[in-house]
Amino acid sequence: MPGAPQVGAPASPAREAPTVHSSKFLTCMRMLASGCAVIAARHDGQRAGLTATAVCSVTADPPQIIVCVNRKVRAHPLIANSSALSVNMLAQSHEMVAKRFAGLVDGVLGEDRFEGANWEEGVTGAPILRDALFSLDCRVIEAIPASTHSIFLCEVVDAKFAEASPLLYFNGRFAAVL
Ligand SMILES: Cc1cc2nc3c(=O)[nH]c(=O)nc-3n(C[C@H](O)[C@H](O)[C@H](O)COP(=O)(O)O)c2cc1C
Repeated sequence: MPGAPQVGAPASPAREAPTVHSSKFLTCMRMLASGCAVIAARHDGQRAGLTATAVCSVTADPPQIIVCVNRKVRAHPLIANSSALSVNMLAQSHEMVAKRFAGLVDGVLGEDRFEGANWEEGVTGAPILRDALFSLDCRVIEAIPASTHSIFLCEVVDAKFAEASPLLYFNGRFAAVL
């Protein structure tokens, strides 16, 4: 069986250790200062997006990233069905965009979240934020189930960037680079 301990091999302490309590884990993760992105998708003429910090570069050749998206969010089926998404890394001036796409502005859902900012269509059809710090237009090449989330492995098909300061998220608050 792959991954099973070999007969005669010493027991691995890591295998025996219980998982840490999720509240302690969440406290640690709140202290991970991150850039904020809006992950957006379009399918059948419908757009949706979410504010996200779970964005990570994987390889430069080929240019690949992963993003982690909760399966319950509205954008999830649009990403899965279109096999495309955009990652729009936000600038400091985009705090309200981040709040809208995080569900922190009452009654602003789905398509309404795109109002108040300039969006265009990328090569893949995914929505691209015009004045983002940078935007990656991506084709999804694999969707890996991970408990409540899907890890989307993506190939970057187009990219653009601007001169701006990033919007950060740290300890439950939006923040700026000093
Ligand atoms: C700073 C910040 C980072 C977030 N990062 C993620 C993330 O990486 N993945 C995710 O699935 N949700 C993340 N969320 C939560 C979603 O933005 C939020 O649940 C959003 O409202 C989902 O869209 P929906 O209301 O259309 O379902 C984050 C929220 C905030 C405030």
